[in-house]
Amino acid sequence: MKILAIETSCDDTGIAILEAKKSGKSHTFKTLANVVQSQDIHTNYGGVFPMMAKREHGKNIVPVFEKALKDAELFQVGKNMLDSKKKKEIQKILSRENDLGEVFLAHIENIKKPKIDKLAVTVGPGLEPALWVGISFAKALSIAWDMDLIPVNHMEGHKLSILIQKDGKIPDLQFPAMSLLVSGGHTEIVLMKEFGKYKIIGQTRDDACGEAFDKVARMLGLPYPGGPEISRLAEKSRSNSSVISNSKFVITLPRPMIYTKDFDFSFSGLKTAVLYLLRDLGKINDAQRQAIAYEFENATVEVLAHKTLKAIEKYKAKTLIIGGGVSANKHLQKTLKTNIKKISPETTVYFPTKNLSTDNALMIAIVGYFQSQKNSQKNPRRLIANGNLTLN
Ligand code: KG4
Ligand code: ZN
Repeated sequence: MKILAIETSCDDTGIAILEAKKSGKSHTFKTLANVVQSQDIHTNYGGVFPMMAKREHGKNIVPVFEKALKDAELFQVGKNMLDSKKKKEIQKILSRENDLGEVFLAHIENIKKPKIDKLAVTVGPGLEPALWVGISFAKALSIAWDMDLIPVNHMEGHKLSILIQKDGKIPDLQFPAMSLLVSGGHTEIVLMKEFGKYKIIGQTRDDACGEAFDKVARMLGLPYPGGPEISRLAEKSRSNSSVISNSKFVITLPRPMIYTKDFDFSFSGLKTAVLYLLRDLGKINDAQRQAIAYEFENATVEVLAHKTLKAIEKYKAKTLIIGGGVSANKHLQKTLKTNIKKISPETTVYFPTKNLSTDNALMIAIVGYFQSQKNSQKNPRRLIANGNLTLN
């Protein structure tokens, strides 16, 4: 089965084509295309503006679509004329997306329908204006090509992104599995009893962890997205520990909620602690900036790791899955791997490969594939964006 998936929940326009096969109880995956166009426009603003993201998705989605078909060797110029009823319906669906309707029709009528079996699209959670671009595009495509369209939860995508590993083998997940989902919009610990059965056991009470990275980075004068920037500075300190021990500039930030009995998080206090520190310091130099980044990363990772390990112990999880943009953080990866060996050596840990840790459509295609096995397709015309969609 070939499945084409579309992801536009935040500031990355993604289209992927996955070939999935089932033999007996096992599945094999082959990535035919995985195109992601990131929106650099947000770099200087320290965050993503929904309406700006929507406009950029509208501009990028057709070129990203064409590139995905070409990468998968499924692009062929040819005529695919649509009747007036279909055209009208497509135009109506895309009417909220500026001139996307005309661009889409001009494009789709000039390429041959490729051998793709199903379509999947992210319907939430995320920024609703951004989500709608992908959903409307997917609806239009499902009408033009007469194909099923499967709605996908973005967080389930992050969770299952670990199913595509570098060696091409699909991990044989043992249940119960615990997952830590850490992105720009979410921070949750989710118990997974089997595929598709999820229970959120802990989550942030205020800011998401990636959001805290981005906001602190902005305060430090670093560009968006802030996570990789803070991490780069923190690693510099870590690789040169004599700088830290000889430094007169020693700071300590709080580890919010680390010893509470639940599995919840809070990152806004940590962010505010950095704000007050910077207010007291006035103008900071590079060494101070680096020291703050280092301590902020340490504090964040300590809390994430502590709660995740506690959840693994309590639920006797055999697998730990990490997902979402922050899962690319080297210090988080190292801390979790080292501590799991000590506390629960029988638990296997999976991180997504680097290109699948941040937003992409391949993870949406994986979920779409599993959904299609359960025959859970909905009427594509009825799909709507849900910015607050949850996993429970
Ligand atoms: O999953 P994602 O691509 O988008 C959302 O669904 O939100 O996550 C983006 C978030 C951003 O906040 C970004 O700063 C953070 O992931 N991030 C990182 C790292 N790489 C990306 N945070 C910490 N360390 C990193 N290496
Ligand atoms: Zn995401």
